[in-house]
Amino acid sequence: MFDKISTQANKLVSLTKTLHSTSKTKIVVVTSGKGGVGKSTLTSNMAYLLSKEKKKVVVLDADIGLSNLQVMFNLKPKKTFFDYLEGECELDDILLTTSYHNITLVAGKSGYQYSNINNSMHFSRLVDDIRSLNKYDILLIDTGAGLNEQVQEFIELTDNILAITTTDPSALTDVYALMKMVSLKKRKLMLCFNFTAKYDVGAAITKSLKNLALKNKLNEKFMVQYMGNISQMNSISTTGRLRKLFAKELKQDIASVELNLVVKNLLKSLR
Ligand SMILES: Nc1ncnc2c1ncn2[C@@H]1O[C@H](COP(=O)(O)OP(=O)(O)OP(=O)(O)O)[C@@H](O)[C@H]1O
Ligand SMILES: [Mg+2]
Repeated sequence: MFDKISTQANKLVSLTKTLHSTSKTKIVVVTSGKGGVGKSTLTSNMAYLLSKEKKKVVVLDADIGLSNLQVMFNLKPKKTFFDYLEGECELDDILLTTSYHNITLVAGKSGYQYSNINNSMHFSRLVDDIRSLNKYDILLIDTGAGLNEQVQEFIELTDNILAITTTDPSALTDVYALMKMVSLKKRKLMLCFNFTAKYDVGAAITKSLKNLALKNKLNEKFMVQYMGNISQMNSISTTGRLRKLFAKELKQDIASVELNLVVKNLLKSLR
């Protein structure tokens, strides 16, 4: 009996591995230590810029309990991925068409109690099911702030982890804690500085963080890649409030140009 279960479990594991290796869909997890540093804003705008690079993008709102990507994409979803995980709808029902060409949204649910489905591997099943469609080039996952177990579950799924930080000392302390955690299991972490006017400032701080990692003997094979900076601009919060994407509405603005560079660096770095 146990042998049979174990054989079935092994089959499932190898099936998952096959899916991971054969699907064209690359996973990018956007995360941060500190909250409010611009993850959701940058994720939705990166999705737009990636679609302009002819990529088919699906964005997953994985900020458990505080999902707000539906607001950024100006949608009122009837179904969220929790409905799918609870077996109340089909995968197709949660793949929401946005008004942007080649961008699909999988919405989360605000105020949801994660403990209702508190059984690990749920998110990886969702991600596997989306990848097995082999329909999208990139699955962008916007996580909540902090290093809680849900965020860690998403981080497990990929080597493409993009951390957003600001130059604020508390954000830097949190991003270093994230580096420490990621370095235990992964080979690299990509870093983007938001609310940061100068490219060189982000580059210099990245160098200091790398030095600190060396000094504290974090995994020596672990790399931190600097992806670029995004300036602080009032127009970003204004377009956000209007439920529009600054990278589309304000193409010429410095922040759009900067984010384009981050996206180009990201595409070069994707595994
Ligand atoms: N570069 C920027 N310039 C000005 N305002 C910005 C910039 N980036 C983000 N914002 C604003 O900062 C606020 C927080 O952004 P956002 O919600 O994207 O952060 P977050 O990291 O997703 O937050 P949370 O941790 O709560 O999920 C929003 O009002 C957004 O419009
Ligand atoms: Mg957010």
